[in-house]
Amino acid sequence: MDAVRPVHEQLYAVIGHPVGHSLSPAMMRAAFAHLGYPAVYLALDVASASEGLDLLYRVGFQGLSVTIPHKEAALGRCVSVDEGARAVGAVNTVRRTASGWEGRNTDWLGAVRALQRKGPFKGRTALVIGAGGAARGVVYGLMQGGAAVAVTNRSPERGQALARGFHCDFAAFEDLGTRSFDLVVQTTSVGMTGQPDALPLPPGFFRAGMTVMDIVYRPLWTRFLKEARDAGCETVTGLDMLLYQGMAQLEWWTGLKAPEEVMRRALEAALEPGEDPAGR
Ligand code: ATR
Repeated sequence: MDAVRPVHEQLYAVIGHPVGHSLSPAMMRAAFAHLGYPAVYLALDVASASEGLDLLYRVGFQGLSVTIPHKEAALGRCVSVDEGARAVGAVNTVRRTASGWEGRNTDWLGAVRALQRKGPFKGRTALVIGAGGAARGVVYGLMQGGAAVAVTNRSPERGQALARGFHCDFAAFEDLGTRSFDLVVQTTSVGMTGQPDALPLPPGFFRAGMTVMDIVYRPLWTRFLKEARDAGCETVTGLDMLLYQGMAQLEWWTGLKAPEEVMRRALEAALEPGEDPAGR
């Protein structure tokens, strides 16, 4: 028998380091309350992924959201993972099984669902900016949805390595002026509060009719996204990706349909004061 077994409420948490600014507790608590689902959801600062995962399993946790910097290490701590997690090389969600943690990646799914609100992308051309863990998820998701993907990155070697791994195209920043894309997804930390705010994109890069997403959500309206909006592009904020990856987590844990509007409102309310979700 397990060392500890929660009785009235199931235990869930987001683990990361640091994790104090995570919006997941606001989103998940609102969802559990709306569904009348007997669960608590904590934010736990965990220094070591392997120790944290082992300990929380023994304490009886039912499911965890896993965030930076633990997504790669979590993959190795699961007794089984799905194909998406394996392809992306990262686990952002775990669920308790009798033999240990089962892992999934819902980040790529969140990106796909957020983008698909603007229309299907099968056969469309897509550019992913960046070559880190977030980029891997977005590239995988776009390819699953049938887009023709190119990657660009500040360090070409890293971008080329990612492109090779996923059998997609690489384009240097300098060459972007001669190319045009239907979809563009920004996955770097550029534009995040406290980070540089401009990417070396050629003048006239954004064109009306493009669908442009930034996975940064602090601030929600990055310079990148505002420039896209002002050029007449369809825009998708990082809040949508966060919402859809969270809905997929909740549905996998509980088997219930996630309350989209409740979770969206909770995220919007938890954003920094002064953020306007509509970007006015
Ligand atoms: P994550 O796993 O969160 O995606 P990461 O692995 O640190 O984070 O990757 C960060 C990405 O942001 C990389 O693509 C990085 O480019 P490099 O590979 O050249 O380092 C990109 N990035 C970070 N700061 C940047 C900047 N100021 N300008 C352009 N790209 C930047």
